[in-house]
Amino acid sequence: MPNRIIDTTISFMRKNFEKIRYNFDEIPQVSIKEPYGIYINVPFCYQLCDFCPFYKEIYSKSIVEKYLDAIINEISKSTIHGTPSWIYYGGGTPNVLTIEQLEQIVDALKSKITFENMGIEALPSLLTKEYIADLKRIGFSKLSVGVETFQSNVLESVGRTNKNYEDLRELLQYAQSLGLFTNVDMLIGLENQTIPGFLKDIKFLCEINPSQVTIYPYMAIRGLVSNSKMQNAEQFSTIEKSFSILRENGYVRRGPWTFTNHNDLYDSSRDELVEDYIGFGPAAFSGYGDYRMVNPPVGLYLHYWSPENENINPEALISKNDPESIEWRRLARMIGDLEINSQYEFSKSVKFVINVLRITGFIRNNKLTKKGLLLAHHLTKSVVENLPFPLQNPAVINNYETYSKLLSLYPMISANSSSLQSDLIAREL
Ligand SMILES: C[S@@+](CC[C@H](N)C(=O)[O-])C[C@H]1O[C@@H](n2cnc3c(N)ncnc32)[C@H](O)[C@@H]1O
Ligand code: SF4
Repeated sequence: MPNRIIDTTISFMRKNFEKIRYNFDEIPQVSIKEPYGIYINVPFCYQLCDFCPFYKEIYSKSIVEKYLDAIINEISKSTIHGTPSWIYYGGGTPNVLTIEQLEQIVDALKSKITFENMGIEALPSLLTKEYIADLKRIGFSKLSVGVETFQSNVLESVGRTNKNYEDLRELLQYAQSLGLFTNVDMLIGLENQTIPGFLKDIKFLCEINPSQVTIYPYMAIRGLVSNSKMQNAEQFSTIEKSFSILRENGYVRRGPWTFTNHNDLYDSSRDELVEDYIGFGPAAFSGYGDYRMVNPPVGLYLHYWSPENENINPEALISKNDPESIEWRRLARMIGDLEINSQYEFSKSVKFVINVLRITGFIRNNKLTKKGLLLAHHLTKSVVENLPFPLQNPAVINNYETYSKLLSLYPMISANSSSLQSDLIAREL
């Protein structure tokens, strides 16, 4: 029975998202209004991890330089103003950028807005104390690192290197001593991962004591990465076992996968479900006014946004908001927060689903129950796996032929291995 209710709720939501379609078209002239957030996409990585479905390209020094000119131009032409509620740099791997390069983007933002809440996702193997001190100096207040696991055989089998436990402890404690909020991403469901090994990782983490621990179940977005060999139920029960360890060490639950020992939160995807936000950079998502938009990948993005191409009108994948899908996003966000806001006037169909969840014991006194938590796990995972990501999904683009012709005219020119090698040496990795 609980599974039937969960499956039905998810299938209602999925049907709603499946209706969303995009057109590749000129970006509409709409101003963003406060409150809003800003997302800076840095879609470059030195290494590609087998499990990662996010859009990214192999790092190339020359392309990153062009990217910087373009994103600064895009920011300068935008309608941002006032004080955004949050700014997150994600990717990809934002810390492939040097501090000077990051500072150029920060300066472009500072010339238009004021802000205090600015976070960055970083690959720990590239982090040093100097880099962390510089992040603080140029205005970052939050640092998130993707650790996933400390088990070296698992990291090896997914094509990833990492800092060892002691180095990470030193770096994160240093970041915290500077006043930075720290988050560590962990991932359950990877190749060769064992549950006892993962729980040992969580105990290690408690000793490091970051401000937040986020434990993702493995997500296979639209078949871009192979499915996990670990069943959903096993991933979710491992997250629950991890929570028992985290709770004993002073962490409280803030969502199905988020645990903090702090009042603040690092959660770059939560607000995107319902709040207005503007994304800069290749493949960045935006959602404001009546629209949701996705920038094209690097090659075409540079064509539109390079300062020398002043006369070209930039285009993006654009979808007009459908009122019903806004309601479903709002419900997904509340379920992700483990609490339903009873003051909010939902549409009839969403209200009906909430009532069913109340009658069947998933929601009590507007809070998700233990059973409700299982719904939160499944539904949050399903939302991420099923939101239509148009860059990877031609079927959701109405004028795909026009778009793909342009893509082939402006392809991404990937770095060859020798220039990549010299870039790596240049960064003294
Ligand atoms: C996109 S990465 C960005 C930061 C940096 N590149 C890194 O890997 O540490 C952010 C996080 O996404 C999560 N992630 C990547 N692939 C995932 C997947 N298939 N399922 C769930 N989470 C995933 C990982 O936990 C990772 O730390
Ligand atoms: S997990 Fe991070 S480092 Fe690995 S490919 Fe994805 S974005 Fe790049």
